[in-house]
Amino acid sequence: MILVVGGAGYIGSHLVKELVEKEEVVVLDNLSTGHRAAVDSRAIFVKGDLGNEEDLHMVFRSYPIKAVMHFAACSLVGESVVDPLKYYQNNVASTLTLLKVMLKFKVKNFIFSSTAATYGIPDVEVIDETSATTPINPYGHSKLMVEQILADFSKSYDLHYVVLRYFNAAGAHQSAAIGESHDPETHLIPIILQQLLGQREKVSVFGADYDTADGTCIRDYIHVTDLAAAHILALEALLTGKKSAAVYNLGNGLGYSVKEVIETCEKVTGVKANVEIADRRAGDPARLVASSAKILSELGWKAERNLEQIIADAWKWHQQQQY
Ligand code: UFG
Repeated sequence: MILVVGGAGYIGSHLVKELVEKEEVVVLDNLSTGHRAAVDSRAIFVKGDLGNEEDLHMVFRSYPIKAVMHFAACSLVGESVVDPLKYYQNNVASTLTLLKVMLKFKVKNFIFSSTAATYGIPDVEVIDETSATTPINPYGHSKLMVEQILADFSKSYDLHYVVLRYFNAAGAHQSAAIGESHDPETHLIPIILQQLLGQREKVSVFGADYDTADGTCIRDYIHVTDLAAAHILALEALLTGKKSAAVYNLGNGLGYSVKEVIETCEKVTGVKANVEIADRRAGDPARLVASSAKILSELGWKAERNLEQIIADAWKWHQQQQY
């Protein structure tokens, strides 16, 4: 059985939907940001907190867990600057509690959701896993700290782990049964689509004076179902002993500017956006684009879905959003 912590959240719920086809799954989530309705009915759901040792003991005592996939984290860069305590508490301290209980129950396989924010402001066009990790905000620091903890635990306690550094997760399940729903929503693609649906007055472009071709920030958007597929390969690699300590980027290798994303949304939906140019948002690097060559060569993963498909799936979800 696989324990998915944070399995009611955006990325966790998409992983669970794929994983239940192959494995028995138990989801632990405190529903602070996740949605109970997003959890596939084939998974067992436990409401609880990963910072609470008793909740964790109950889960590990009740189910024969062979691996843990950890998606439960706070993930807003701006919020992390305003409230770093929350980020170090939830993302570092609670993860440490989870790892402690795993070791107590001799569960040694761990998949960790990390982020492009570990790279800070990169000095290369395309970021690979050897690029410098110099985060510029508490969110990035909190994720990098856990990466360090995992490397140390691997050496001292024989913990086996895979770290997956996501770039910009986007899109929704192709069935439109689950999708992206944050409150507040801060991510570009849902904000554009909500505007196109008349749920927002306008889309603000945060800065058009960056050192990029059209002046807006470039990001590497990756379909959430492609992310889920990478987790399943990583899990297989751990369970078969093929990998025991690995870090991989997950991106498309293609960068799109904010303006290009807006244009693609207009093209896919046939609706024109109401756009204004606004000030830069603090902490936004001009360009974040991943090389995912390492996971392609080692696990055979690559992104299958392009930006149009990401937006088409997200559009289907937003038109009939259920939670
Ligand atoms: N943007 C706008 N207007 C908006 C929202 C976003 O112009 O209303 C711009 C942002 O400035 C940025 C781009 O669109 O240039 C993408 O912004 P998102 O908020 O969608 O995503 P981020 O790149 O800021 O953040 C994502 C994840 C974080 C992670 C980060 C890694 O959501 O968790 O990538 O750098 F830390």
